[in-house]
Amino acid sequence: MTGQLPESVVAYLKRVASLVDGYIYAKVKGEPKEVYDAGLHLIRAGGKRLRPAIVVAIAEALGEPAERALPFAAAVELVHNFTLIHDDIMDRDEFRRGVPTVHKVWGEPLAITAGDLLFAKAFETLTDALDKGIPPDRVARATRVLSRASAVIAEGQAMDLMFEEEDEVSIDEYLIMIYKKTGALFEASAVLGGLVATGDDATLEKLAEFGKNLGIAFQIRDDILGIVGKEEELGKPVYSDIREGKKTLPIIYALRNLEDEDREKLVMVLGNREASREELEQAAKLVVASGAIDYAESKAREYIDRALEALRGAVPENNYRRILEELAKFVATRTW
Ligand code: IPE
Ligand code: IPE
Ligand code: MG
Ligand code: MG
Repeated sequence: MTGQLPESVVAYLKRVASLVDGYIYAKVKGEPKEVYDAGLHLIRAGGKRLRPAIVVAIAEALGEPAERALPFAAAVELVHNFTLIHDDIMDRDEFRRGVPTVHKVWGEPLAITAGDLLFAKAFETLTDALDKGIPPDRVARATRVLSRASAVIAEGQAMDLMFEEEDEVSIDEYLIMIYKKTGALFEASAVLGGLVATGDDATLEKLAEFGKNLGIAFQIRDDILGIVGKEEELGKPVYSDIREGKKTLPIIYALRNLEDEDREKLVMVLGNREASREELEQAAKLVVASGAIDYAESKAREYIDRALEALRGAVPENNYRRILEELAKFVATRTW
């Protein structure tokens, strides 16, 4: 399933996936087997590998070979998979990447430990950049960037959980929350890609701006797909945002713009863990009827435009930049 991606970009993602996956499998092994299997479960199941693709494409756009970018690329994918394992526990979700979630197969205690394992392995992997000849000051900087981003993700995930209990969340609060839980890792991925090639502050700042805006757009799209996505395409559940009472952009918009009676119907289902499939579908229909999807799509486009502008100021025009531009456009329109 390629969605709206040109074949050249699909081929690029496949190449990155095979390089990065090989690197991860070589690094993440040990005993007891159960915890390593649990840790690798989602990686084996698939995924888009967007964050490592950003690292590698930026490094290549700045004239570096993909090989030198692999420790940083593998590190961001490991942090990502760590957050997914814990996120599925937090969100009570039962499948992802088309397979049962880690806690469904191994139970919550081992899933938590498997997440911790990947988180630790990410930082061990990051320091392999020294063996690839990346100067130590840039590896130290990358370590600071990724560890800070990891703390910001935890802040964002905490906000996401706290918003479940709140009746009203502003769009500004939502934007801060999604920057933290998702934008921060895209931002770190872009900066790490830059650090493979350069320590130039102006370039790294523009790359940060690219990644941050791309990540915000990515999460807005994810939140749209949580209302109108197809489970077969996404490989993960739709409507769980409604069931969990998440304050996503489409839901915030609908709560503000629906007439009293419809708003009341939505509020009755929002955060109701006992809601039936039919009730969730009806609630999703109300969100769509409010105009929330059009609104969120235009917001996502705004952030993509900002990302593209920053990218064009950060790296020269070449084939790798074109791949990054295509990836950015895909992020705002994707169905998977
Ligand atoms: C899912 O990210 C988590 C979010 C930040 C929304 P992806 O959609 O990139 O997940 P995979 O890696 O392709 O499965
Ligand atoms: C995305 O969480 C952010 C992280 C996993 C850190 P979500 O809960 O919004 O993403 P999905 O929909 O489960 O992939
Ligand atoms: Mg989730
Ligand atoms: Mg979540």
